[in-house]
Amino acid sequence: MSQLQVGRLRAASREAIAEAAAVLRRGGLVAFPTETVYGLGANALDPRAVERIFAAKQRPADNPLIIHVADTSALDSLVATITPLARSLVTRFWPGPLTLILDAAPSVPRVTTGGLGTVAVRMPDHPVALQLIRAAGVPVAAPSANRSGRPSPTTAAHVAHDLGGVVDLLLDAGPTGVGLESTVVDARGAHALVYREGAVSREDLGPRSATGQRLSPSPGTRYRHYAPGCPVEIIAVDDLQQRARAMIEAGLNVGVVVPRSIDVPGALIIRRFEDSTELAHGLYDALRTAEEAGVDVLLCSSVPETGIGRAVMDRLRRAAGTPQPRSDHTGRPR
Ligand code: TXA
Ligand code: MG
Repeated sequence: MSQLQVGRLRAASREAIAEAAAVLRRGGLVAFPTETVYGLGANALDPRAVERIFAAKQRPADNPLIIHVADTSALDSLVATITPLARSLVTRFWPGPLTLILDAAPSVPRVTTGGLGTVAVRMPDHPVALQLIRAAGVPVAAPSANRSGRPSPTTAAHVAHDLGGVVDLLLDAGPTGVGLESTVVDARGAHALVYREGAVSREDLGPRSATGQRLSPSPGTRYRHYAPGCPVEIIAVDDLQQRARAMIEAGLNVGVVVPRSIDVPGALIIRRFEDSTELAHGLYDALRTAEEAGVDVLLCSSVPETGIGRAVMDRLRRAAGTPQPRSDHTGRPR
């Protein structure tokens, strides 16, 4: 665990938010809550500040950042063109967990965009995030506030664990709501191309949305992600008890993430859930808990790939290191 210096962790009061805004304005790093996960923020227009994010996270330089704004008009100065599709998505989903990829305005530093010529922008639906961005008066570049390759943080304690030694200020507003990252959508064309599954589902986006991954991958989706320090196995709920029993008999220390209705004798219950929404909320905490408990393997029940279940399964497969299913142009699994 990296050490968080005394005074750097603050409950997200009005005063703490004002102080955090000042930190951002002078080029510092502020970790803050959004409705999805905690972000590690810096002034998006200050290349030095943005470079500090990459150094703090040990993030590859070709993996660009999402710029967070507090009102829709801030989009005008960050992108070259707002397409009709982008306009309609902004109207429908902002503030909220939808990130739009558009052609970047020349004023956006290369380090923020990874030199792609495009830029990712979203307006988070969290009062602390919105107040912070407004008070700072600058757009805020923020990746998830985990060390690169670790599960995204959904509590201030997760951030302190991964990045405690490098943040200038960490605003604590309790656990985040959604628990998984925003949906990343290329909005340059006529129809939404989904680069990263997320809290806004395919059903929300409508039948004309498609998987954009194979056309133009989000750099971030190429890296191994969300990996806890123990092996993860995804397993159908009907097979889970038998698999756990076999592993326990073989002498393994087995952790499980299972529906409330399932009993798994001899296994360590890491997390129970009612539905995909509840699993999304607690998944990253479960991965970290399993690691800290020192289990030999974490068995995680699969969920139906509808609604947010699609994003849950995407993250689970990344954690397990198993390939994503091939999908056709419409994003339907084949
Ligand atoms: O919910 C979220 O999106 C959180 C909170 C903090 O807002 N942020 C987040 O950021 O998850 P990060 O950096 O962990 O993930 C950003 C994703 C990466 O997969 C990155 O490659 C992709 O967005 N991305 C950013 N800019 C892009 C661009 N110009 N073109 C394609 N993909 C881009
Ligand atoms: Mg991330």
